[in-house]
Amino acid sequence: MAKVKLNLFRLDLFKAADGYFETVTVSYSPNETLLEVLQRFRDQQDPSFGYDKNCRLGLCLSCRMKINGRPGLACQTNVHALVEKSGQLIQLEPIKLEHAVKDLIVDADLASSLKENKR
Ligand code: FES
Repeated sequence: MAKVKLNLFRLDLFKAADGYFETVTVSYSPNETLLEVLQRFRDQQDPSFGYDKNCRLGLCLSCRMKINGRPGLACQTNVHALVEKSGQLIQLEPIKLEHAVKDLIVDADLASSLKENKR
């Protein structure tokens, strides 16, 4: 398996108002999607990492995120192709930063409620 660095946005709005970026190294194989790599990262390296998924078919849009600054679907993004195109560092951010609740998970209502409670 090849390796690539992910620059992940990390946030836990239940604990703190501000997020930060964390760079981690993950393995990938040529046919894997970004969603599969994120699942393995959470399963094997950091169980606290938050991201959304559902259909894995590009239909539900729950895995939307900013991939190197552009909106994309993790379940439809081949990591090998991304590395070939953009290099060895992939930046991942919530699709809407203002709605981020936990790492890459966005929920506009919950984010608003948590921010209101911290005031
Ligand atoms: S998991 Fe449904 S679009 Fe990616």
